[in-house]
Amino acid sequence: MKFFVDTADTDEIKSLAEAGLIDGVTTNPSLIAKSGRNMSDVIAEICELTTGHVSAEVVATDFDTMVSEGRKLQKIASNVAVKLPLTMDGLKACRTLSDAGTAVNVTLCFSANQALLAAKAGAAYISPFIGRLDDMNIDGMEVIEEIRIIYDNYGFETEILAASIRNANHVKLSALAGADVATVPPNVLRGLASHPLTDKGLAAFLADAKKAGIKI
Ligand code: G3P
Repeated sequence: MKFFVDTADTDEIKSLAEAGLIDGVTTNPSLIAKSGRNMSDVIAEICELTTGHVSAEVVATDFDTMVSEGRKLQKIASNVAVKLPLTMDGLKACRTLSDAGTAVNVTLCFSANQALLAAKAGAAYISPFIGRLDDMNIDGMEVIEEIRIIYDNYGFETEILAASIRNANHVKLSALAGADVATVPPNVLRGLASHPLTDKGLAAFLADAKKAGIKI
């Protein structure tokens, strides 16, 4: 499974990239707004911090403007993936940009049928929002499982990018469900490495090493 980090915070991205923990980055208009920076500048900087895809989202809702914004975003760097909302105009723009060789990440997906349409529109990635479904008492993981079955039934190459991830359990269940990518907030990504028994075991090893005067 690939890990993307879900943030526009370049310090966080830099430190996670240095740790070799990320395969790409996803942003959205809310994360860009939170960075307080100019969108093209921050996307350009992020694209230099990873060789993987960096998702940059259009802010238009009509077909023509989404396509022109998508082309502008694509020009920022070769590893930009253009993020488009799962609307009829978004799907139409996805077909146009994908046919031109642009990697498209179709976002704001909440059902298997929506994901089926995105695959047929040539999307490179589909982003089902697990956390927001769970917030509505809809089992977000079930949607990932359904998309996996449908995509495998028809051999779609669109990658399932599990999004709106809230905790470590979402990451594990996404992997078990066969998601290709999980995009994870920085704190959740770091949290995946920690386990109390690891800390306890390490402390005991170090104490025994110290008592025995082990030197390497
Ligand atoms: O970037 C897309 C998605 O991961 C955002 O999810 O629900 O945490 O805002 P959320």
